[in-house]
Amino acid sequence: MTKQTYWYKEGVFYQIWPRSFKDGNGDGMGDLFGVIEKLDYIKSLNVDGIWFSPLYPSPGADCGYDISDYMDIAAEFGGMEAFQRMLEEAHARGLKVIMDLVVNHTSDEHEWFQKSRERIDPYTDYYVWRPAKKNGKLPNNWDSMFEGKAWQWDDVRKEYYLHLFAIKQPDLNMDNPLVREEVKKILKFWLDLGVDGFREDVITFISKEEGLPDAFPLPGYTGISKYNHGPHIHEYLQEFRRDVLSHYDCMTLAEAPLVSPRLALTYIGPDADKGCGADIDMMIQFQCMCADCFYSDYMPLPFSLRKLKKAFSSWQAGLRGKAWNMLYLGNHDHPRVISRYGSEEYRVESGKMLAAAYLFQQGTPFIYQGQELGMTNWYPARIDMYEDVQTLNQHLKDPEKKRLKLYHRASRDSARTPVQWTDGPNAGFTEGTPWFYVNENYKEINAAAQETDPDSLLNFYRKAVALRKSLPVVRDGSYREFKKWSGRLYAYERVLGEERLLVICSFSKKETAFRLPKACRGKAGTLLLKNYDGTGDIAADGKDLLKLKPYEMRVYRFGG
Ligand code: NOJ
Repeated sequence: MTKQTYWYKEGVFYQIWPRSFKDGNGDGMGDLFGVIEKLDYIKSLNVDGIWFSPLYPSPGADCGYDISDYMDIAAEFGGMEAFQRMLEEAHARGLKVIMDLVVNHTSDEHEWFQKSRERIDPYTDYYVWRPAKKNGKLPNNWDSMFEGKAWQWDDVRKEYYLHLFAIKQPDLNMDNPLVREEVKKILKFWLDLGVDGFREDVITFISKEEGLPDAFPLPGYTGISKYNHGPHIHEYLQEFRRDVLSHYDCMTLAEAPLVSPRLALTYIGPDADKGCGADIDMMIQFQCMCADCFYSDYMPLPFSLRKLKKAFSSWQAGLRGKAWNMLYLGNHDHPRVISRYGSEEYRVESGKMLAAAYLFQQGTPFIYQGQELGMTNWYPARIDMYEDVQTLNQHLKDPEKKRLKLYHRASRDSARTPVQWTDGPNAGFTEGTPWFYVNENYKEINAAAQETDPDSLLNFYRKAVALRKSLPVVRDGSYREFKKWSGRLYAYERVLGEERLLVICSFSKKETAFRLPKACRGKAGTLLLKNYDGTGDIAADGKDLLKLKPYEMRVYRFGG
């Protein structure tokens, strides 16, 4: 076993979705050459690491989450050579690199699947195959997340295979020990190459209930209770930990749909450590992505600040002293956070406020590419402009106009338009023809314009991240929320010894009043971060009642 240093607890991560980050060779597709060009930019955000969405060879049915070779880097991203150069250069700047591990499923073009459908050993049982039922029905009633029912007939093997996502993403049979050996080989391969850990894609889906029984119908999600957090999940994750991960000082981050803090502790809490480390180090929960929808972005509801605060606070309280939070406001699977929880009208103000709302919580924050620039949702004129397999299969029976309206609000393609670097052609993303549409607002929203503006959102992120890292209270302090019932304000304090940090965030367009909590009244407070001019420190004999402007945020320090 290697000694674990838990370095990720000190850090802040930046997520790159490679296709749209930066094109370095002019072919219109983001790549590792572009990433290398931008490593100094990434470092300038004061972050400590990068999570790469998949870089492996893939037919692209799910933009890289359908992998056809786990031990290589796609030629379109620059291949292995560019990856190794990027890794070296990132490490030279003190940036950790974590990869996406996608082993619930492969691409149907992966060699394992090609051999499995022909029953060539040892691949015959690498996937979840079932014959048709006698009455000609599907093996069970499960839905796939992306394309209809979860079963696809294969004419070569003359059986159905399970796909919990797109048809081109057959599920691996993790109950087969040979498949688990393959996973371990993949982990070892990348760790030996020098990567620092993995974000594990829908890893809680890998153990399916024995017999694959029918499930209670839930529109679009039938079956999820039979494969999420399944019977052998802890056993398999422990096996990966014991045989590979515990031999490296690495970090794992598990994507975990439908997980509560209590359930998360069975993976990341002290009891999850069976002698060589917990199953996983951190979990990506979804509650913080459900403040304006019912479980999925495609089941929209009005934004509820109370729901968001409950998500934040229940995780802060639930893991306190027992496990470590992963903090985020968006990624490649959700629309842009300013368009959801903030305001496009008060884009910069609300972007800063949202940053403060999560950056001062306990845990390891992740910033998704373009979030630091305040990129917003994309509103294309036609459905056929969308690219994403998930989006294009939603609400197919609805009239086109209604679908378009829903996609404008919910599609993850809004997070996948190219990063807006300049106000020049293609927003400076590429010198060629971009693989995807650039959001038309790039003339106004771009990195170059924000570099030179001290009050820009970009410079705010730099400052906020640096501030977070300079204050031990953010890493270790207790957490307490005020005004829980408020539909306009999110206010919390972090306390460590004499030091008290008070974070006040208005989620409202209206002026909103906030009375300082008792412990701060009559005390002097230093204003560490703000998003409006004209506000300053609180004098010891100052007023208790603060009046907050639209989407105003303030971070004060008392004592310390
Ligand atoms: C979760 C990933 O984040 C998403 O992008 C992908 O489509 C699905 N898992 C399937 O791999």
